[in-house]
Amino acid sequence: MKRALLVEDLPQVAQHLQAMLAREQDVELAGVQTQADAAIAQATTEKPDIVMIDALLQGKTTGFDVAKRVRAASPGTRIVLVTVPQKPVEPKPELGIDAVFVLPGGANELGVALGIGKAAKVAAGTIVAVYSPKGGTGKTTLALNLACVLRRQGKAVALLDGVMQFGSIRHVLQVPPSARSFVDLPAAGAMKTSIGEVLWEGPGGVHILLSPARPEEADLVQAADIATAMKLLAESHDYVIVDTPSRLTEDTLAILDAASLVLLVVTYMSATVANARSAIDTFEALGYKGQKPILLVVNQADTAAGMSKGGLEHALNLPVVAEVPTDWKTVSESLNKQQPFVLASPTAPVSKALDQLATALVSQQRK
Ligand SMILES: Nc1ncnc2c1ncn2[C@@H]1O[C@H](COP(=O)(O)OP(=O)(O)OP(=O)(O)O)[C@@H](O)[C@H]1O
Ligand SMILES: [Mg+2]
Repeated sequence: MKRALLVEDLPQVAQHLQAMLAREQDVELAGVQTQADAAIAQATTEKPDIVMIDALLQGKTTGFDVAKRVRAASPGTRIVLVTVPQKPVEPKPELGIDAVFVLPGGANELGVALGIGKAAKVAAGTIVAVYSPKGGTGKTTLALNLACVLRRQGKAVALLDGVMQFGSIRHVLQVPPSARSFVDLPAAGAMKTSIGEVLWEGPGGVHILLSPARPEEADLVQAADIATAMKLLAESHDYVIVDTPSRLTEDTLAILDAASLVLLVVTYMSATVANARSAIDTFEALGYKGQKPILLVVNQADTAAGMSKGGLEHALNLPVVAEVPTDWKTVSESLNKQQPFVLASPTAPVSKALDQLATALVSQQRK
């Protein structure tokens, strides 16, 4: 059930939208606000799943201002601007407009705008396993920042720390140890109802499923449960990004199997390339060839080590979709601030490379 807050100052329009929302089975009304300030206050404290805002709100604060402030106060909330055909509005997630509902509009259009329409329901999200056979190549860094870029583009994004023992996402973001994790999820069938409750709201509104805080808890998690969680998250998110362990254990294989796409993180160092070659051979043996795309992302691509992009693509017979430069300063500053660099320094070349990676993934998914 999604909770929706309505921000509308015209009583007739409010009544009409309220009646439409009442007919949506998956939505309950969190309230109707006629004033911008009261609306922002309620969105800030209650963080509803959806806020619908009249783009033509009268008074000092416009509907667009309200959208921006709700986005800042509750990044995980889906914001829908309501307008009329004479005043067209474009969705602009970076300005807090995830979708637009044009009055009078029917139930189908409303469902799509709210992200609960039939179209939204059948289309399961894309599951991306960020994998590398070699440790320390940048899996965690790329997974987290990729999730944030996709979220900034208005996608619903979940990030799963698939490294059940000594996972690092909680440390990178300095999540308090009391935050709920994978071990707080009931197994198998009961998982569906409680998965929303254990998600940590990460930067920019990325929903994070953390791995356990203590190493001994890793044994409590079954590989099959990781796959189930990934699929459940894909039901309610456009993208599920999974930070994957390097060792090909049962967990790793379950993650790779459940993924719709594998992002293989490599560098131009010969040891990494050789290991990537072996991993790709394993993927072929597992029957992934032709079944799920495997895309290469080169991290620290400026450390050429004698290898070129073309040479690497030839050696591994796979496409390179992005080259990410080394940037110790931006990366370490972002770690100090516990803010992913794509949000802390969006114009840095390292962040631009992540934009390119996200674009490549989105176009791959369209194919
Ligand atoms: N492009 C980059 N520029 C600068 N520093 C980077 C870059 N990519 C990653 N790093 C840094 O390199 C280190 C290793 O990266 P990261 O932890 O993401 O790798 P990993 O593959 O997840 O490692 P592990 O195998 O241990 O899980 C981190 O300190 C990270 O901040
Ligand atoms: Mg890691």
